[in-house]
Amino acid sequence: MQVIYKIPELALYIERLKKQNLEIGFVPTMGALHEGHLSLIGNSKKRCPVTLTSIFVNPTQFNDPNDLKNYPRDLETDLKKLASASCDAVFVPSESDMYPEKDTRVFDFDGIDTLMEGEHRPGHFNGVAQIVSKLFDLVNPDVAFFGQKDFQQVAIIRKMVKKLNLNVQIVACPIIRETDGLAMSSRNLLLTEEHRKIAPLIHQTLMQAVAKSNGLSVPQIKSWVVETINQSGLLKVEYFEVVDDQQLIPSKTFKNGKNNIGCIAVWAGNIRLIDNISFNL
Ligand code: PAJ
Repeated sequence: MQVIYKIPELALYIERLKKQNLEIGFVPTMGALHEGHLSLIGNSKKRCPVTLTSIFVNPTQFNDPNDLKNYPRDLETDLKKLASASCDAVFVPSESDMYPEKDTRVFDFDGIDTLMEGEHRPGHFNGVAQIVSKLFDLVNPDVAFFGQKDFQQVAIIRKMVKKLNLNVQIVACPIIRETDGLAMSSRNLLLTEEHRKIAPLIHQTLMQAVAKSNGLSVPQIKSWVVETINQSGLLKVEYFEVVDDQQLIPSKTFKNGKNNIGCIAVWAGNIRLIDNISFNL
C-alpha cells in the first residue's frame, strides 16, 4: 500500500492511474478506523480497480474545540488496518497543506443543512463540504463511498456534487454495527464502560420504533423514542427526527409513500452518538 503525505506526490499517483484509465474509488475518513470504514473500502474494491483512502481530521467541521482535541488519532494502527484490507493507497495530508489559507467558502445546501446535525452542529456541514470538495479536487475520483451512518452527510455531499457539477458518483453504504447493535463509530472508543454498556439501547429503541410505527403517529413515535432512551438515566436524546430520504423534510405521517428515516443524536456523557433507521423496511 502506498502511503502518500504530500499533494504533489498524490498528483503524480493520480496522473499515473488516469493515464492507465483506471477507475478510482475514494473513501474519505478521519481515521481511528473500524469495520464501518473498512466496509467502505470493501465496497470500493468490489467496484473499482483502485481504492484510495484519505485520513484527515478536518478542523473546519468541528463546532466543538474539545471534540476536535479529543478526537481519537492512531495513524500507525490505521495504516495496518488499511494494508490488511488491501487498500491500494492512503493520502494523509497535513493541516497546513489542506488549508494553506483560511477557507472562507460558504456552501448553499438549499436548507437540508438547517435541521438535525445542521441545527445542532452549526457550521459542521460547511466544513465537511470544504474538505470533501478539496479532496475530490485533488483525488479526482470516479466513485466516492460514504456511510449511511451519517445519513445527512450523504445528502449534503450529493447536493454539493450536483451544485458544483462534479463528475463523481456517490455511493452510500449500509451502517456496520457492533454485535450488540451499537453503530460503529470512532467516538465509541471514548465512551466510559457504563455508557458503552447502555449505548446499544439507541439501536434497540429505533428497531422497536419501526415495529410500532404501524399503529402510531409520527409525533407518538417521536415522544416514545425520546422517553425510552432518556429513561435510562445515562443517555440524553438531543434530537430524534423522522424525515424523507430525498429532501430531508420532516415527515408528518409514516404513510406518505416516501422512505422515512428516523435520525437520532444522543449524548452518552460527553460523547455524542448518532444513528438512524429506515421506517420502510
Ligand atoms: P469519519 O467519521 O471518519 O467517517 C468516514 C466514513 O465512514 C463516512 O462516510 C462515514 O459515514 C463512514 N462510517 C462511519 N461509521 C460507519 C459505520 N458504522 N458503518 C458504515 N459507515 C460508517 O465522515 C467523516 O469521517 C468526515 O465527515 C469526512 C467525510 C471524512 C470529511 O471530513
